[in-house]
Amino acid sequence: MSGSVIESIYNERQSRLATVMEKAGFEAVAINAGPTLFYLTGLHFHLSERPVVGIFTPQGPVTMVLPELESGKLAGLPYPVLSFPYGDDPAGWESAFREAAATARISGARLGVEPRRLRVLEMRFLESAAPGAEFLSAESLIAALRMHKDTREIAAMRQAVAIAERSLKDTLPLIRSGMSERELARKITTQLLRHGCDPELPFQPIVASGSNSANPHSSPSDRLIAEGDLLILDWGANHGGYFSDLTRTFMIGRVDPELKKIAGVVSQANEAARAAVRPGVAASTVDRAARQVIEEAGYGEYFIHRTGHGLGLEVHEEPYIYAGNPMTLEPGMTFTIEPGIYLPGRGGVRVEDNVVVTDEGAETLSTLDRTLFAI
Ligand code: CO
Repeated sequence: MSGSVIESIYNERQSRLATVMEKAGFEAVAINAGPTLFYLTGLHFHLSERPVVGIFTPQGPVTMVLPELESGKLAGLPYPVLSFPYGDDPAGWESAFREAAATARISGARLGVEPRRLRVLEMRFLESAAPGAEFLSAESLIAALRMHKDTREIAAMRQAVAIAERSLKDTLPLIRSGMSERELARKITTQLLRHGCDPELPFQPIVASGSNSANPHSSPSDRLIAEGDLLILDWGANHGGYFSDLTRTFMIGRVDPELKKIAGVVSQANEAARAAVRPGVAASTVDRAARQVIEEAGYGEYFIHRTGHGLGLEVHEEPYIYAGNPMTLEPGMTFTIEPGIYLPGRGGVRVEDNVVVTDEGAETLSTLDRTLFAI
């Protein structure tokens, strides 16, 4: 990709932030290490004991406070940055923050932050460097930017889905009854990495067998996969910071006919919800489409979570697909559709796909078969 394309992406994102910031009455937004900083600057920092903060204002260049050892990342950026690096002695960190705050003029400012991301660590430095600053949530403003994926972001997600699907295809022949959930989790992780998933997985794969499959967020255990089990695999890949998040359910040998039946209901609910996705429709309408199928089949009380969640640089982000969410879907939004039925003590089924809202309707990025099949 040429430098000018990258240049236009980050300049454009920063200027979109400036516009919404002014509209919302923020004088600045301070973002610490994480997906939003990556989104706005292309810079990847890990959360560590050393604070990293980017301060964005409507007029000025990005002001960055960061460790000296990371300042090499700022070389050759296609947008202007004022950097305030600090050394290893924490005694000097406060003055780096003070200088940055003075440069960005955030004393007494209405300052937008991400309440779920900013730690007390960064917050204390900012508070003392910018007396009188009012810390306000910029969460919805930032979500509004990040929710609308551009074609480059969607291409990255498409790739993340393709990697996940190829990994599953190569994992299926390795599944045996008598194998532990943990062992299978390792196998799918290996296949993800073999197929080009970035080393940092979006999340630990869920491998839930038998009665564990009735728990939507079960962690892989030492339980041995056995004949008659339902087996839920929930896994995803990372491509360039963008994630996929898929789930399929399998049966090990013969299973109870009712478990087969709920699998059919869930795949119909998945289909109905995906068919309901289009621009102008409320997120709640999509949830309703899935829930209605499950309720009509008599399993409403066993569908115990929302129908889906936004997906992109984070595994869970906006828009959330739940009953009562009036948010209107718009082109470029990407999220999961993942209805499930969980019968306590017996087993559960979930079928999860990743969709993108298009100008006319929706595209499902995932292609794996959605019917329950036997291993
Ligand atoms: Co999910």
